[in-house]
Amino acid sequence: MQTRYIGSAALGRMVRRRGIPEFLRGLAGYIRDDYLRWDAFEKTPRLASHTPSGVIELMPATDGRLYAFKYVNGHPGNAALGLPTVMAFGVLADVATGYPLLLSEMTLLTALRTAATSALAASAMVRAGARTMALIGNGAQSEFQVLAFHAMLGVDQIRAYDVDVRATHRLIANLAGVAGLRVLPAASVEDAVRGADILTTATADKRRAAVLVRQQVPTGAHINAIGGDCPGKTELDPDVLRDARIIVEFEPQTRVEGEIQQLAPDVPVAALSDVLAQRASGRGSDAEITIFDSVGFALEDYSALRYIADLDRAEPESRELDLVPELRDPRNLYAALGVG
Ligand SMILES: NC(=O)c1ccc[n+]([C@@H]2O[C@H](COP(=O)([O-])OP(=O)(O)OC[C@H]3O[C@@H](n4cnc5c(N)ncnc54)[C@H](O)[C@@H]3O)[C@@H](O)[C@H]2O)c1
Repeated sequence: MQTRYIGSAALGRMVRRRGIPEFLRGLAGYIRDDYLRWDAFEKTPRLASHTPSGVIELMPATDGRLYAFKYVNGHPGNAALGLPTVMAFGVLADVATGYPLLLSEMTLLTALRTAATSALAASAMVRAGARTMALIGNGAQSEFQVLAFHAMLGVDQIRAYDVDVRATHRLIANLAGVAGLRVLPAASVEDAVRGADILTTATADKRRAAVLVRQQVPTGAHINAIGGDCPGKTELDPDVLRDARIIVEFEPQTRVEGEIQQLAPDVPVAALSDVLAQRASGRGSDAEITIFDSVGFALEDYSALRYIADLDRAEPESRELDLVPELRDPRNLYAALGVG
């Protein structure tokens, strides 16, 4: 028995083999299935280590059969150093023995699972017929967000805005070949959000930013807020949150990390698991503003690792990794040093 390893190149092959839309739809299906098994999971907020430059987090989840954890960082200043803001890897292990079955890159996988989760939540929250999305923050996550909304909700018009115009140009160039999708540059947040059905905020800034203010939000819009995901790091002006229907992944974590850290702790929110199970409603009326206050929850990483492990069993792209020494006598660990 050996641990399997899926690196960035292998994950890229897995995605290209299926095509991004099919990969995202399959991934969203796994995330949905696991949210519908909510009570089967041991859930805990992630363990975060904050420093002035960013955060490093460990995210565990288990259903008693498989155990997953992800290491992930968030360093908004990294681009200036030639590094991504978000980098990640993770492990999927067998609970019965503790054996690490899979070690995987999760920088790409996090972008894919975040986008799939956003589109999954939106599919239960947007007004019928939503086709236009404003995208504020056109960094590493942005193509993935667009492609998930295109594949899963039929969103076909994007108005993209970033304080760095080069980011918007890259996004448009990367998605130029996608059939049935128009990505247009916007000159400002106001220009991007005008008349949009969905507003996605995906900015990176380690402060309480107000990327969106109340008067900029069109009546009945759905806000997919993914960039506010740490204490002291938010994107929405608190007024945007008032009177909106707010859906969260795991309330104890989102109260500390999400947009709702700006609200009193008793302001009601609904759980994504309840919305997906139709125990709670994702939208009350066409005029209501709905918000998915996404911070990223360990269950989604568990689902993503479970998904690629299953894909890899069917059509292998992984390679073996000698993460655990192979021993003829499991108690003769010393022999693995090869000294005698
Ligand atoms: N919720 C989740 O599950 C989840 C998952 C991954 C990343 N994230 C978060 O999403 C955010 C984006 O991640 P990324 O990897 O794309 O980061 P990135 O650094 O690659 O991109 C961020 C972009 O935001 C732009 N920006 C910053 N301030 C802005 C503003 N006020 N208005 C418009 N644009 C602005 C930057 O110029 C940059 O292009 C980060 O905050 C990250 O922590 C959340």
